[in-house]
Amino acid sequence: MHHLKLIFQASLIALVLLTFAGCKRHSETNQNISRYQEKHRPQLHFSPDSMWMNDPNGMVYHEGEYHLFYQYFPDSTVWGPMHWGHAVSKDLVHWEHLPIALYPDSLGYIFSGSAVIDRDNTAGFGKDAMVGIYTYHDIHREKAGRIDFQTQGIAYSLDKGRTFKKYEANPVIKNPGIKDFRDPKVIWHVDTKSWVMVFAAYDKVLFYTSPDLKTWAPSGEFGIKGDDRLWECPDLFPIKVEGTDEQKWILITSIQKKGPNGGTATSYFVGKFDGKTFIPDTDEQYWLDYGKDNYAFVTWSNTKEIIGIGWMSNWQYAQVVPTQKWRSAMTLPRSLRLIQNGKNYLLTSQPTQSLSTIHRESTTINVTKDTVIQTEIPALCKIDLSFSKSVKGDKSFVRLSNSKNEYLDLGYNHKSNQYFIDRTYSGETAFNNDFPGLHFGEILYQSDKILMSIYLDHASVELFADDGKCVMTDICFPSEPFTKLTIHHSSNLLSGSFTELLSIW
Ligand code: FRU
Repeated sequence: MHHLKLIFQASLIALVLLTFAGCKRHSETNQNISRYQEKHRPQLHFSPDSMWMNDPNGMVYHEGEYHLFYQYFPDSTVWGPMHWGHAVSKDLVHWEHLPIALYPDSLGYIFSGSAVIDRDNTAGFGKDAMVGIYTYHDIHREKAGRIDFQTQGIAYSLDKGRTFKKYEANPVIKNPGIKDFRDPKVIWHVDTKSWVMVFAAYDKVLFYTSPDLKTWAPSGEFGIKGDDRLWECPDLFPIKVEGTDEQKWILITSIQKKGPNGGTATSYFVGKFDGKTFIPDTDEQYWLDYGKDNYAFVTWSNTKEIIGIGWMSNWQYAQVVPTQKWRSAMTLPRSLRLIQNGKNYLLTSQPTQSLSTIHRESTTINVTKDTVIQTEIPALCKIDLSFSKSVKGDKSFVRLSNSKNEYLDLGYNHKSNQYFIDRTYSGETAFNNDFPGLHFGEILYQSDKILMSIYLDHASVELFADDGKCVMTDICFPSEPFTKLTIHHSSNLLSGSFTELLSIW
């Protein structure tokens, strides 16, 4: 009898445990299904849980985590008093949202900046402290009509970026009377064993150096004569020329107007850095991305590869794009390489290798003699196409479309030798006059084929042409996802395939 009672009790406990386990699994699944399914919510790209986001900030790799801080306003879906939002990822693909890292204080809003790991404890905050370097924007001084309202401050974390303490003697760089004085990127310069800061000062960048991240002295500047554009969010890093031992330095700078297709865009220069200032090889200013929607692109600190991410929007219309709960997303994370191109050099961008974790099986597109090929595609997908350049027609292009007669074209113009994206009829476009339109990407290299690799998400397309030598990123807002692919190829399609991609959430 006693024996039976024990068996009964044990079965009851097992049943209760199983039921609970079942419930947990059930609710977890439900949560995943309902999470981030709003209209236009990017499924392959990082976006904030809610509210306004702009530039990526403070990106640093530390103890197995890629940190992504970002310009964030938690009270609205338009720009306002800036904080640093925070997320981490182990693979640059799947992200975990964390609490806000930096709040505005009496010195001002927290504008863009960078982060480093202080391995040798040069600042005395602690070994391997994560130190964030950012701009303070003092709104009271600005409203009072002063011009010295931007300064640089620092904050440190000893718990893997979970909490930050602001340095008590902030600001570390006071404003010398320059209105636009912001967006510090700090790197450790191995040869001179010192910290180097590059930041934007209206139409140029300034360089400062420091032994300890606290005391800074000016060391140089770089700009182009006669430029009337506002520069923002610079970045500076050494990079090996692919296949050689030659090292070059890249200076990235984002430009507030007159991007290659209008509005804001990210550019770069190739040259040398002597520990004090940047010396360009040529005056040539290249575009990292010809699309309209890759701004403030900067790279991660403390990584072996050069990997960066950009804000996938344009100040022309970022605050009025038709999303409800949140505004803006980041580009796909990208690996940068430098290749020799004739006498010059070219920085190429490709999605990071880790994105292959969300690839499902590929489907080969049957190449027929017809000049138009049609196929259904998954709403989240990567499309790979190669065309020959010998053709009589004007263009080789693909149309992504939905059942609402909305479409977006991406392709190559044989006459002008340019890539293009046309989002004129891509869905909701009327919210701003600068949004609809045809955008061109320049080909600054020799190529005998047209290679297009396209990443399609619910609210963006990214074209990595010719192995990342010409890149175009454009956001779009179709009223339902694009699931039809039509290839207009005048019989010059050589091969094609598409690969379904899994949501990162
Ligand atoms: C670039 C930018 C930065 C500034 C930040 C403010 O988009 O204007 O120069 O630090 O945004 O949010």
